[in-house]
Amino acid sequence: MHKVIRSIVIAGLSMPLFLAAQTASNVTLPQDKGPNSINVSAYPAEQQKGYKVFADKCAKCHTIARPINTMMTKEEWSRYVKRMMHKPNSGIGDSQGKTIYDFLAYDQESRKDKNPSAFFKSLSDEEIEKLKAQQH
Ligand code: HEC
Repeated sequence: MHKVIRSIVIAGLSMPLFLAAQTASNVTLPQDKGPNSINVSAYPAEQQKGYKVFADKCAKCHTIARPINTMMTKEEWSRYVKRMMHKPNSGIGDSQGKTIYDFLAYDQESRKDKNPSAFFKSLSDEEIEKLKAQQH
């Protein structure tokens, strides 16, 4: 009986967190449907470590497939990582943001730039809003 009550209390407490994360990005973008992992076995050790931080931190509000399949210039990644960091409850600190940016910049150059047609261009805020409206 106590166990049941405890589960209900825990579920009740975690619900707002769950909802906050969900409402943060309750829209499916085209790039979300692409592969959700990168084979980093040939990447330098530092970028392999960076991949782990990236895969851990950037999957909180949307699938990790989103950044994995989006093309951006390094400048855009730099801005975008900051934008994601500054979202409420992002859970991404400055040094993790830097590690993630370094990884994304390396991955952009070594994987995406060599095969651009396999990836999606990043969407404008207007395009994302339009998809949201269509999906609700
Ligand atoms: C706190 C929630 C949250 C976290 C954490 C988060 N994102 Fe996002 N992300 C969003 C939301 C919401 C959107 C939709 C656009 C917007 O509202 O800014 C988005 C959109 C994106 C897009 C789509 C860009 C486009 O225009 O096509 C990319 C790429 C992306 N995020 C990458 C990342 C990366 C990389 C990280 C880790 C550094 C990350 N996200 C962490 C919430 C988050």
